[in-house]
Amino acid sequence: MITERIDQLMAEVQDLKATTEQEVEALRIKYLSKKGLLNDLMADFRNVAADQKKEVGMKINALKTLATERINSLRENLQACSEVGGNIDLTRTPYPVRLGSRHPLTIVKNEIVDIFSRLGFTLAEGPEVEDDWHVYGSMNFADDHPARDMQDTFFVEAHPAVVLRSHTSSVQARVMERTQPPIRVICPGRVYRNEAISARAHCFFHQVEGLYVAEKVSFTDLKQVLILFAQEMFGPETRIRLRPSYFPFTEPSAEMDISCFLCGGKGCGFCKHTGWVEILGCGMVDPAVLESNGIDSGKYHGYAFGMGVERITNLKYQVSDLRLFSENDQRFLDEFQGAN
Ligand code: PHE
Repeated sequence: MITERIDQLMAEVQDLKATTEQEVEALRIKYLSKKGLLNDLMADFRNVAADQKKEVGMKINALKTLATERINSLRENLQACSEVGGNIDLTRTPYPVRLGSRHPLTIVKNEIVDIFSRLGFTLAEGPEVEDDWHVYGSMNFADDHPARDMQDTFFVEAHPAVVLRSHTSSVQARVMERTQPPIRVICPGRVYRNEAISARAHCFFHQVEGLYVAEKVSFTDLKQVLILFAQEMFGPETRIRLRPSYFPFTEPSAEMDISCFLCGGKGCGFCKHTGWVEILGCGMVDPAVLESNGIDSGKYHGYAFGMGVERITNLKYQVSDLRLFSENDQRFLDEFQGAN
């Protein structure tokens, strides 16, 4: 029966395979040429009873379309293969694509910036190569302050001093000198200090500093913002503690600890059995700093805070060696896949 023959050819054509152009050509001759199987069918078609002609005709047409498409696509595949230079298998499952991940310091910096943006702080950035005035002078460092010493500061030029900034307070200075209050900025950036590289110290690291200057700014405002930050960053159970400290550019100054999030403040190896871990420095902007930067200290007050991104990252992810952050060891970086 002709319909069975058609069905059989359909199945055959469905499964055609060829690995060279010659094989494709042989298939074309076998099925589609003048002396091909399809033309044989057409010969048989003449003998089909008149009432079946329509149905059988449609079947033959379908077979012809399928055979043409199949043979053309085999030819195209082979041509594509030879264009990319070889016998590649286009049907093979691809290798999984290795996704990169953000650097842990970037992840944490973004998180810090994000928290403060939600509190109304805007982003400010400044140069890493700075003059002495923006890093030290305008920040109320005495001329003989030890931080200016070769021990701490990398000098690019000696007189007049051009340095690699040793803190991002220089960005605060640049913002204040060009903006009148209200000022509410967050300044992330890389800083440099001339320290021997070890697990606990590096010659460069990253800071995020915040500055708020407006009328009637109080220490309570500072404390509130820092509590919010600590709880957003380390969890809603987090408590903070402020200890008196000293910075040339703030008065009064404090260092802030958070309750240890590993033991919840009970005391463990991580917090050296104190229940607290230190995370940042802060204070009310010294009026002398406001004046140096062209802001009326009789009218305006401000607070500032600064934290090390490495320190926060160490705490959040329990990284114990600072050098890991700049060694680009793939095994370390891969651990942050999936963090944002
Ligand atoms: N600039 C300080 C530092 O580098 C941090 C700080 C910023 C402290 C703002 C108080 C206020 O250590």
